[in-house]
Amino acid sequence: VRHLLGIKNLTESDIYTILDTATQFKDVINRPIKKVPSLRDVTIANVFFENSTRTRLSFELAEKRLSADVVNFSASGSSVKKGETLLDTVNNILAMKVDMIVMRHSSPGAPHFLSERIPANVVNAGDGTHEHPTQALLDAFSIREQIGDLAGKKIAIIGDILHSRVALSNIFCLKKLGAEVRVCGPTTLIPKYISSLGVQVSHNVKETLQWCDVANVLRIQLERLQVKYFPSLREYSLYFGINRQMLDELDRDIVLMHPGPINRGVELTSDAADSRQSIILNQVENGVAVRMAVLYLLAQQ
Ligand code: CP
Repeated sequence: VRHLLGIKNLTESDIYTILDTATQFKDVINRPIKKVPSLRDVTIANVFFENSTRTRLSFELAEKRLSADVVNFSASGSSVKKGETLLDTVNNILAMKVDMIVMRHSSPGAPHFLSERIPANVVNAGDGTHEHPTQALLDAFSIREQIGDLAGKKIAIIGDILHSRVALSNIFCLKKLGAEVRVCGPTTLIPKYISSLGVQVSHNVKETLQWCDVANVLRIQLERLQVKYFPSLREYSLYFGINRQMLDELDRDIVLMHPGPINRGVELTSDAADSRQSIILNQVENGVAVRMAVLYLLAQQ
């Protein structure tokens, strides 16, 4: 049984296969009849132990566009609250003849744990601070759609790198596709090991915006902060927040991205988030086609 647990173990060729398949599915979902019968008779459970808007809905839409049968599970309101384990929960879902599990969990490695113990495909929809592979794939797809092949492109990831699964999956994906990657943020929110992944590190947001072709801006993950941290949100927005004036002062247009949810007024002002350089809603749109591609390719194995 094949799984999508992270980007780390994918090859460049695997990534291009997913992106090229997603291109075909994007054509499909822009037609008046958006559905294809590819996953008819496949049953998929979306098992979410953490909150989500974009990922959960776009997996569900992707599954329905592929004609799969879909069930949705949220930990809140379930028997997890009575003490049922992750493995018991998923084995009970599989007993109802479910073929694939799409899972979000707050513990890094939870989908890997599951993949070694169940006879179904597992797709990681975000595991704690570890990886969020389909986000990185839809980000790469969106960049390629805007500015072409990623090889040699300068991509900045700006914000809370320390707690971000989006940052780690993006770094793996962008490096495999030949992009130059720079992370930018306060020292306290950039892990020490990051340079070992072959990325540049900066603490100067204006200079980073001047350097890059694409700025992927991340939020501060307040829910993952263990201690009161420096800087405060007010200080963060003062020193690392991006506004429209900063984009207008650059000598060329850059592409502005954000995986969502945006903390408006902290990492991005509304006039930047909603500017003509922003492709934030294109990323969300592309999430459906990319997730269709992932599910379709896994179901072929
Ligand atoms: N980008 C992302 O994962 O958003 P959600 O948490 O809303 O799914």
